[in-house]
Amino acid sequence: MSLQLPGRIILITGGADGIGRECALAYAKEGASVAIADVQGARAVELAGEIGANAVGLECDVSAGPSVEAAVRATVERFGRLDAVHNNAGIATPSKPLHLTTEEEWDRQFAVNLKGVYWTTRYAHSELARVRGCILNTASMVGLIGQADHAAYVAGKGGMIALTKAMALDYAAEGIRVNAVCPAGVMTPMLERWCQEQRDPASTKQYLDEIHALGYCPQPDVIADACVFLLSDRARFITGCALPVSGGAELGYRR
Ligand SMILES: NC(=O)c1ccc[n+]([C@@H]2O[C@H](COP(=O)([O-])OP(=O)(O)OC[C@H]3O[C@@H](n4cnc5c(N)ncnc54)[C@H](O)[C@@H]3O)[C@@H](O)[C@H]2O)c1
Repeated sequence: MSLQLPGRIILITGGADGIGRECALAYAKEGASVAIADVQGARAVELAGEIGANAVGLECDVSAGPSVEAAVRATVERFGRLDAVHNNAGIATPSKPLHLTTEEEWDRQFAVNLKGVYWTTRYAHSELARVRGCILNTASMVGLIGQADHAAYVAGKGGMIALTKAMALDYAAEGIRVNAVCPAGVMTPMLERWCQEQRDPASTKQYLDEIHALGYCPQPDVIADACVFLLSDRARFITGCALPVSGGAELGYRR
């Protein structure tokens, strides 16, 4: 089968671990060059080393404007262009209803999960406009249907989905497509940590299998496959879409 992302230059945030790592590997396998930007700089560099000459690892905190600006600049310097930004970096904390959420927790959640999109767009927009590029956001099914005890996280992901639509409209005239993927559960270091924080980690894992109508909590490869599609020419007429990659977790009443 022909490559889905031949010669593309893709910057992915939060690319050192979990869903981002799987996406970086999938993009490279499909012929893209990848800039892996992550607060875990050493892990990003290590992964880039595993991928080879068509990858670079960059230490980057998406909540800090200068750090994002430097990552965008380094990507363009290294590969000469930028075709797509995948906003994937995110944090799951805090697991709390709103009135128990501290101001610091609220601010940190929004600084990483939502303002990170602002920074990458601010610094990458001109590059993307030049090539009629793509923006892809890792949102979450909870941004569409809600989740108990995660008010700030749900609000951030809901904001990301709304932003996906607003940006799709704003940038359509420039040929920039903007989409989001909405996973339900995905077995990553983030979800492993979350399970360990719950009262009964074993039954939490069973619950995570059961929330998906298809019967299991997936590995990140299912998200990477959807992301490859959305960034590829096969999705050339899709924009403003928040695509569930959720095994039917959101589908109505069931036993
Ligand atoms: N795992 C799930 O069940 C699930 C479900 C829905 C949505 N998501 C979303 O998917 C994305 C990836 O989650 P994951 O499960 O792979 O998490 P993860 O914790 O396994 O990986 C996240 C990566 O982002 C990096 N990161 C964190 N803060 C950062 C920052 N400020 N700047 C740059 N990088 C940063 C981490 O170092 C890590 O490499 C997140 O946006 C998350 O909200 C995950």
